Amino acid sequence: MNDDLTKLILDRAGGARPVCLYGYDLDLLAEHVERVVATLPERCRMFYAMKANSSEPVLRTLAPLVAGFEVASGGEVAKARAVDERIPFIFGGPAKTEHDIAAALTHRVARFHVESELELHRISAAAGRAGRVADVLLRVNLTGPFPIATLAMAGRPTQFGIDEERLPEAVRTARRLPHLRLVGFHLHSVSNNLSAAAHLDMLELYRRRVTGWEREFGLACEVVNFGGGIGVNYADLAEQFDWPSFARGLGELVGRSFPAHWQEIDFECGRFLVAGCGSYAAEVLDVKRNHGEAYVILRGGTHHFRLPVSWQHSHPFTVVPVDRWPLPSPRPEVRDEPVTVVGELCTPKDVLARGVVVPRVRAGDVLLFSHAGAYGWEISHHDFLSHPHPDHVFLGEVPRCSRTTARMGSDPKGGENRCLGSTGSSVPSFGMTRYGW
Ligand SMILES: Cc1ncc(COP(=O)(O)O)c(C=O)c1O
Repeated sequence: MNDDLTKLILDRAGGARPVCLYGYDLDLLAEHVERVVATLPERCRMFYAMKANSSEPVLRTLAPLVAGFEVASGGEVAKARAVDERIPFIFGGPAKTEHDIAAALTHRVARFHVESELELHRISAAAGRAGRVADVLLRVNLTGPFPIATLAMAGRPTQFGIDEERLPEAVRTARRLPHLRLVGFHLHSVSNNLSAAAHLDMLELYRRRVTGWEREFGLACEVVNFGGGIGVNYADLAEQFDWPSFARGLGELVGRSFPAHWQEIDFECGRFLVAGCGSYAAEVLDVKRNHGEAYVILRGGTHHFRLPVSWQHSHPFTVVPVDRWPLPSPRPEVRDEPVTVVGELCTPKDVLARGVVVPRVRAGDVLLFSHAGAYGWEISHHDFLSHPHPDHVFLGEVPRCSRTTARMGSDPKGGENRCLGSTGSSVPSFGMTRYGW
């Protein structure tokens, strides 16, 4: 994508509106996910955790490639169904409302991942009202130890899952309630694990625990779900999670030690599937020095791209040099020294990168942050300070997008969603009007 995106940035730079956009490469996304799915062993299925990026073109690109979507709200159920009437979806999340549960049942949810005993009661009651029996997995908050990762959802006190110690009661309740069918267990314990070997060790731990529960409770699981959590190395882009070696190891585990009665071994990845397809581009509005430190100030910031501040990391970026400089005033710059890259918000916490040495950066250049496709726009506080939103530009083939170049609706805060892609049939899209230009 970078060539196309750089061209787009250079076309726009120096214009009336400073450059500020997300660019997504849908061809790259499709290629990556196709490769991941193609190397999965027998019985293993990849769902897409749409919380990582639920933009319509991303969902449309992924829908034909993955086993289904993992959703965590009624809003995500609606988005899943807006792109595909039939795609299977599985429903997780620690706080499901009765309304969301009913909506999921109406839209033919494949399974619920249940996080508490009360939720078992809620789902059984809603399934009874809908004249259905709902398939459920119990999400368990295991006792670790787990691989070192950026976030831990289990192995310590969190709001997620059923405490392993309380599992006997939860299993009893799930079996007793009339409108539920307990089909297995769900384990999602870490986020951003970078080691394939450690991930395989964790799956081996999961196997031991789940087969132990099968013996203890007299169960035979049809489905197990081993979550997402495969990471992206933002600190060293050349050293990424070794998917081919993970897929090989998984094949050995499945063949050698995963019980034959596990018909389906699900994964629900977000970050690893979509991070690499997205970039965030923001124009440098000013370059200045304060108390001896050099600051690069962007049109944009953490209200568009909260990931770096949320994870307290310096997000990788490159400088796109822009020669055009329309102002008569001198053009500030820094060369070969550490800079702190900040956004346009009135808070010192609006930092995207710190202490990064750049050969040269000037006001009017554009910074391009890579690996921004997951948990970028989705997790950001868009309206703090009421600045305009960034544009969202989708490059590449958009399945069933209406035109070669389609504008997918405008955002009242100024950002535009555009597909700069190839053909497909016209489909309705989240109530946005679509027109070409
Ligand atoms: C239950 C569940 N499954 C899957 C995911 C996706 O995780 P990742 O993006 O780390 O693969 C998340 C992320 O928070 C989650 O909470």
